[in-house]
Amino acid sequence: MTKKPYIIVLGNEKGGTGKSTVSMHVIISLLRMGFSVGSIDVDARQGTLSRYLDNRKEYSGKMANPLPISEHIPLLPSQHPIREEAVKEDQGNLEKALAQLSSNRFILIDTPGSDSPLSRAAHSVADTLITPINDSFIDLDMLVRLKSDTLDILRPSTYAEMVWEQKKQRAIRDQGSIEWIVLRNRLSSISARNKQQMEDIVKALSKRIGFRYVAGFGERVIFRELFLSGLTVLDLEECKMPMTLSHVSAKQELRNLIQMIQLPDVERLAA
Ligand SMILES: Nc1ncnc2c1ncn2[C@@H]1O[C@H](COP(=O)(O)OP(=O)(O)O)[C@@H](O)[C@H]1O
Ligand SMILES: [Mg+2]
Repeated sequence: MTKKPYIIVLGNEKGGTGKSTVSMHVIISLLRMGFSVGSIDVDARQGTLSRYLDNRKEYSGKMANPLPISEHIPLLPSQHPIREEAVKEDQGNLEKALAQLSSNRFILIDTPGSDSPLSRAAHSVADTLITPINDSFIDLDMLVRLKSDTLDILRPSTYAEMVWEQKKQRAIRDQGSIEWIVLRNRLSSISARNKQQMEDIVKALSKRIGFRYVAGFGERVIFRELFLSGLTVLDLEECKMPMTLSHVSAKQELRNLIQMIQLPDVERLAA
């Protein structure tokens, strides 16, 4: 019997923090490890992940050996004018997409940077939820309200509360749990003092709000450049792209990330 796919969701309530970039890199990492991977773009209106994958198909079409790619489904939110009906339709569409991708070992879902019934439904099916944040207090605000002068934690934000709610829903539905990971993306764009403050606050938060905190990618031009060709840092050699030191570091960051998120069946890489 085939195993139920393990579901990874990329989510937060802010655009531009790296959800689609991290989605693409996690998908291609898993494919290159030999796993079958399905993907769903719940942010199909913006469609960054869908376009990233389309670009990859086009690039791959010109190669002698095609590049690995996920079985992909873009999902648009329901247009039903009655909210309850829209919620039902969204849930139904998501279930259908998951069923269609059920022969894959992993399914990755990329979500929009704003709250919606479809995004909530996607959060509730996560086995692992990954929330990328940038190194700024604006992004921290997505997790928690801070007192501006002392930076004391006032209360969890609406997003953190939404995640708790989906964790509850998940436990009721199938006794499952959601492992929540907050990932710092585009590191090093701020001063050392700010960075230390961020580090201290995120660590305190991780205990209080209940997430695991891991380092993501540094701020690197390569992540912006790869979108148009549909490539990731793992494809550069195969596509005979020149490798710079920054590319090698980016690859290492991705390896570390995959190791830190601790997915089932993914063997610990040698340190
Ligand atoms: N580590 C990084 N270094 C440099 N640019 C990045 C990095 N991560 C993401 N970006 C760029 O930031 C922009 C937003 O990223 P994206 O993945 O689309 O975010 P989201 O899906 O959260 O809206 C894109 O132009 C992307 O190329
Ligand atoms: Mg996106």
